[in-house]
Amino acid sequence: MKLNIEKAYGFVSAEAVKAYMPQVEESQKKLVEGTGAGNDFLGWLTLPEDIRPQLADIQATADLLRKECEVIVCIGIGGSYLGAKAVIEALSNSFEWLNADKPKIVYAGQNIGEDYLYELQELLRGKRFGIICISKSGTTTEPALAFRLLKTQLEEQEGKEAARQLIVCITDKSRGALRTLANKEGYKTFVIEDNIGGRFSVLSPVGLLPIACAGFNIEKLIDGAADMEQLCGIDTPFEQNPAAQYAAVRNALYAGGKRTELLVNFHPKLHYIAEWWKQLYGESEGKEHKGIFPASVDFTTDLHSMGQYIQDGERHLFETVISVAEPDNTVLFPYDEENLDGLNFLAGKRVDEVNKMAELGTMLAHVDGGVPNLKITIERLNEYNLGSLIYFFERACGISGYLLGVNPFNQPGVEAYKKNMFALLDKPGYEAESAAIRQKLQK
Ligand code: PA5
Repeated sequence: MKLNIEKAYGFVSAEAVKAYMPQVEESQKKLVEGTGAGNDFLGWLTLPEDIRPQLADIQATADLLRKECEVIVCIGIGGSYLGAKAVIEALSNSFEWLNADKPKIVYAGQNIGEDYLYELQELLRGKRFGIICISKSGTTTEPALAFRLLKTQLEEQEGKEAARQLIVCITDKSRGALRTLANKEGYKTFVIEDNIGGRFSVLSPVGLLPIACAGFNIEKLIDGAADMEQLCGIDTPFEQNPAAQYAAVRNALYAGGKRTELLVNFHPKLHYIAEWWKQLYGESEGKEHKGIFPASVDFTTDLHSMGQYIQDGERHLFETVISVAEPDNTVLFPYDEENLDGLNFLAGKRVDEVNKMAELGTMLAHVDGGVPNLKITIERLNEYNLGSLIYFFERACGISGYLLGVNPFNQPGVEAYKKNMFALLDKPGYEAESAAIRQKLQK
């Protein structure tokens, strides 16, 4: 993985980026020594090594589910599902659902859509399916609701005893309703350690079990992350440390008025990497009325919709492009004798050459239009490179949050909607809030 920040230099000087060096070093020290805000949530920093003793158990559990199930439902929301989905989508064949040989991975508990849940229940009817239920707190409404529905269905289809063997829970070691339920029912469980927050948990069982269930090599994913941990460490000089550089340049751009970062891809398989990244940066930095707004676009698709705004709209944007150097497959464009579509100038070229020229042409146009571009190049989409990319983004996020002056590891803002929802649903214990909100609605 390589980071290139040269196309930001027309907008911020190299000196302005370098000026962050002392603060970056300070932030790195806070992370490594655990002296900064949120220091009780730093377990992710050393996960690449800490998780290795659990890999065999995770793999064995995945092998069992893969052997037994046609469909595996991953239940979870936010940090409890986005990382797994991001890696699985990035590595899977785009038409995976047509492949009858492998168990299908589907998701639930990431929304409360009644049609979604109805259609999922219909899909699972009569099929042998397994459930991985992931919730650190064990009390989040969306996954809890989906789990009760699907567990009931599984028990009806398989009987309670057989269903027990097809359910795995990933949750806190002692607290929360999911832990209580798992202990009582005797489900297989994995623990989310106290010091690992949801959005930093993809390299723990939270991400690794679903990824292994999808048939991908979790050891290689961890190898990539471990190597990136070395490269992004406190001993790597500022200029050679990609996490330090990325954190510094995005803060320099933010200080210069670039308040929105677009994560850009040119491969549809990377769509969910951006969804994971948005949560990582949005939830870590968006607080105290500060923070770069993380958004994303899929190119070239979105060049035909959002492209106009990016080229010509308000100038508060910068882009970070994830470029994949080498696709897995080759498609050559054919020659046509009649050339009625006028495309013979592409004959014999790879489709990826067209895509790469679109990528280069877009970058030049956007930079000319006032949008700084950062570029992350990964050699190809595989487990090792995705592990590296994940750790790079996590490490840079920790540094960047400290540069911004916020606690990157809490998320106080996500509670507000939950309080209102529980009050409106008359959840026991919310009587006072319920009365207050009803009064407010009558005004
Ligand atoms: O990053 C986070 O902490 C959140 O996105 C959580 O992962 C999400 O709210 C789900 O929480 P839980 O795993 O407790 O169900």
